[in-house]
Amino acid sequence: MIRQLVVFGAAGDLTGRYLLPAVARLHAAEEALPEPLAIIGIDREHWDDESFRRHAAARLEAHAADVPDDVRRELCRSLSYQQGDVSDARSLAGALERVAGPAVLYLALPNALFADALRTLADVGLAPGSRIVVEKPFGADAADARALNELIGEVLTEDAVFRIDHFLAKQTVLNVLGLRFANRVFEPVWNSVHVERVDIVWDETIGVEGRAGYYDHAGALRDMVQNHLLQLLSLVAMEPPTDLGERALRDRKADVLRAVRSPSLREIIDRSRRGRYVAGRIGDRELPDYAAEPGVDAERRTETYAEVTLFVDNWRWSGVPFRLRSGKALGEDRREIVLRFRPVPHLPFAGGAEPDVLRLSLDPDAIALAVNLNGAGDPFDLEREELAVDLARSDLPPYSLLLLEILNGQAALSVRADEAEESWRIVEPVLAAWDADAVPLEAYPAGSSPPSEAASS
Ligand code: BG6
Repeated sequence: MIRQLVVFGAAGDLTGRYLLPAVARLHAAEEALPEPLAIIGIDREHWDDESFRRHAAARLEAHAADVPDDVRRELCRSLSYQQGDVSDARSLAGALERVAGPAVLYLALPNALFADALRTLADVGLAPGSRIVVEKPFGADAADARALNELIGEVLTEDAVFRIDHFLAKQTVLNVLGLRFANRVFEPVWNSVHVERVDIVWDETIGVEGRAGYYDHAGALRDMVQNHLLQLLSLVAMEPPTDLGERALRDRKADVLRAVRSPSLREIIDRSRRGRYVAGRIGDRELPDYAAEPGVDAERRTETYAEVTLFVDNWRWSGVPFRLRSGKALGEDRREIVLRFRPVPHLPFAGGAEPDVLRLSLDPDAIALAVNLNGAGDPFDLEREELAVDLARSDLPPYSLLLLEILNGQAALSVRADEAEESWRIVEPVLAAWDADAVPLEAYPAGSSPPSEAASS
């Protein structure tokens, strides 16, 4: 296990909101971190150890209040700080002087700085055994992702590179593997013969929440679909891996991504939707128009809702639509993968019956199978019942689990270079068609149902 974590972008939002809380929760979970971890923050601010510690304490108070005070205090004491500029080799070499031996270098930086930081690190050189962590979004398009991958290749080999997608460390996401591959009953029906369609839904009630600086340049398709939702698709659609090691798991996921057909312009026009929220109320919150949120450039016409239908062109899934959607400021939080099965070939009952529906809820973590049974009362009448289980939350939230995997050098839950590039290949035609206005940008009031509520009924 590596015991030094160097955070580039130490003063940034990501470090305060996700990374430091992740470390705090690792400290709080018994035996999760068997050895002490030294954290060295690097950023442009002219801070010293003390000011970084004060900053960290405030961020932990805001984002990890559940972690006991003494654990948070102890963590802050283990922090140190170096002023440094990731685009300047001399400055960075100076900042890295306190780092002795192999380290995990976490680029918690805006996407636009990745390439500069990687070039500088290539110049400075890294201690053997070091690892690099790169946050999403990985590149701005396929060419950019490829260029970044090449740059990374100049610094480290692929097994030392960790492209973060925290969805891969969510409990129910990992449960897709358990459900599918540790049981006999699901896998035989997990294909186009039995499954009519798959919906992958990430509806959120939160709006842009002060993240316009990033989000307004990304939009829902880049922020959610290109990475998180395509990763979910790859797990749902993959062939059984021989084991859960990084090679087998990522080979099988990459097979799926390669098999996803690039949507044609016709398919994009017919089967994709984009929207942007306008003022509305969600519960007791009043939201302004997205376009009026601080930091948003209305002219950019960034979508806050994205919906695409994709097809996996292989033997198992031929013809089955995978509908991916995600939106902000919707009326209801709904985060789930839904498999809707085909109707039975013959129904020996009068009337009809809904097809079976398997719902893997990602937050809260739960699994439910809706089936038709002979309920109470007339035994010849069918009733709809749900076989449901609520899953206890895992002790380690996604970011903590990912960090632990990285410190231990386990790359199975990180995104491999080819997966990142394939994911861009899949969404690029949609981005191009939307940029060309081939699909209207629909307005939906904050707090309303998603523009296409037909999904996963
Ligand atoms: C992030 C996206 O990666 O994932 C956010 O940038 C989104 O827009 C978030 O809200 C959802 O993940 P979680 O785990 O915070 O619900």
